[in-house]
Amino acid sequence: MSSVEIALKVLPNLEAEDFRVLAVIEIDLSHHRFVPEKDIFRLSGLPEKEVRYRLERLAEFGLIYRWVGSYVGYLLNTAGYDCLALNALVKAGVLSSLGKPLGVGKESDVYDALTDDGERVAVKFHRLGRTSFRQTRRLRGYALGKRHISWLYQSRLAAEREFEALKLVYPCGVSVPKPIAQNRHVIVMGMIEGDCLFRFSSLPDPDSILDRILENVKLAYVKANVVHGDLSEYNVILSPDWHILIIDWPQYVRSDNPSANMLLRRDVSNIIGFFKRKYGVIRNLGDVLDWIKRAD
Ligand SMILES: Nc1ncnc2c1ncn2[C@@H]1O[C@H](COP(=O)(O)OP(=O)(O)OP(=O)(O)O)[C@@H](O)[C@H]1O
Ligand SMILES: [Mg+2]
Repeated sequence: MSSVEIALKVLPNLEAEDFRVLAVIEIDLSHHRFVPEKDIFRLSGLPEKEVRYRLERLAEFGLIYRWVGSYVGYLLNTAGYDCLALNALVKAGVLSSLGKPLGVGKESDVYDALTDDGERVAVKFHRLGRTSFRQTRRLRGYALGKRHISWLYQSRLAAEREFEALKLVYPCGVSVPKPIAQNRHVIVMGMIEGDCLFRFSSLPDPDSILDRILENVKLAYVKANVVHGDLSEYNVILSPDWHILIIDWPQYVRSDNPSANMLLRRDVSNIIGFFKRKYGVIRNLGDVLDWIKRAD
């Protein structure tokens, strides 16, 4: 069972005291590798007996992990963190139900869901720390210097970054999913239909599809002052009517960031390189970059 499946199964059984205990562990994890049982007794404001009962339940549900070493401590499992985020999004009147997985990958799980207004949305759970090599590299830009970078912190940071990026570029007309809400490591965004660019074996008009991708890169750069930072054929979606959408923004930087130029060059180079290899479409990197940066 995936952690989201565990969370969904358990959520209806959880009571306010369970959430209280989960939240205490969440907060105290910034100070400890394993949150001492003693801290939970103290910080939860619940009677010790009650806390013991809750801890046992939560461990049985698979939401927390009990560690016995020089002291007894607890860790939040992914499913426990999912429960906290989902509960908050339901309480905030954003989500009413979660559906089937749309994409389960290395660094995220994306699910189909419904809002309280009956709108179909996509819910992305960031999962950093699941693959250890790439995420360290990916995080170097914005989390270096933290003494202890937990998967929990990394994943929340990635969600916050991605949500920020969407809120910057979406109002400027960049073709991205509509940002709806964010809590912890989870973002809720508009549902998009289509398939990843790399999955297509042929395109009706590769030239104009490349143009539209580059127009959106320019729009993000010139109007929103944002560089994607991880652009490739894996993060462009083509809808059934051949509209393009750019997804997966947690690595964005502002255009005044010292790395912005290098990242913009890499983004554009990835995309035009892909169109050259696969479709024989030739563009000059320098010309395209000049055109993108020109404010016209
Ligand atoms: N708004 C959305 N609507 C519908 N499907 C989406 C949406 N966002 C993402 N997806 C689906 O989820 C997949 C992964 O999304 P994304 O690229 O944002 O995450 P990722 O961190 O790169 O994950 P992975 O490591 O699996 O590539 C996409 O390829 C797409 O199929
Ligand atoms: Mg991706």
